[in-house]
Amino acid sequence: MAGLAVNVDHIATLREARKSKYPDPVAAGILAEFAGADGVVVHLREDRRHIQDRDVRMLRNVVQTKLILEMASTAEMVGIALDVKPDVITLVPEKREELTTEGGLDLIVHKHTIAETVDTLQNSGIPVSIFIDADPEQIKLAHKIDASMVEIHTGTFCDASTADKKERAFNKIVDAVKLARKLKLGINAGHGLCYKTIKYFKGLFEIDEFSIGHSIVSRASLVGMEKAVQEMIRLIKTL
Ligand code: PXP
Repeated sequence: MAGLAVNVDHIATLREARKSKYPDPVAAGILAEFAGADGVVVHLREDRRHIQDRDVRMLRNVVQTKLILEMASTAEMVGIALDVKPDVITLVPEKREELTTEGGLDLIVHKHTIAETVDTLQNSGIPVSIFIDADPEQIKLAHKIDASMVEIHTGTFCDASTADKKERAFNKIVDAVKLARKLKLGINAGHGLCYKTIKYFKGLFEIDEFSIGHSIVSRASLVGMEKAVQEMIRLIKTL
């Protein structure tokens, strides 16, 4: 069965909307773990629009499963990562003007700088996952630069407006997953996944872990974090 890593960024989004002290993403991470999540994910963005440095450091102290830090490949973030030592780092592209991460890292363009970051982090003992589109060239490059894992971007599939586009996007994910497995990369998948789209992944046993945030936090706002996480785990069990 694939694991579930719960991204709690949007608990912090709610907090930052009022610049208050609550709700606390640290508490949300603990509740996600209580509910059976296999990891807690936070994205420390350059503009600190949701997760703050204090959240990452506190989560490092309390998370007992796995703390996964999403970050851009910048000197500032590498410095923080080497200091905090999360269990896994997921390298993502980042633009200030985007609402959320809009696509995978382009390793054709950024191969050398990403390779350097992967080297630095992995030499310090932190396995690195690279968030990439479901594209065979990107998978091959992730393998070439020796990343431990890839996270396949599922956003295009989740956002597809027609059944035809959805099917095409999903077939690309399947091909990417099969190739990544052949290359012995760890395989995660995420972005835009919800309680409906997760069901498409039935039978795709090569995926090690799903990384899901917005849909779980949205559901948690109505039914509570533990129930929202447990419902998703139940769906993943049936895949
Ligand atoms: N994976 C990555 C690399 C992401 O950047 C995000 C969004 O922060 C997610 C997964 C989770 O996406 P969502 O919030 O749409 O579930």
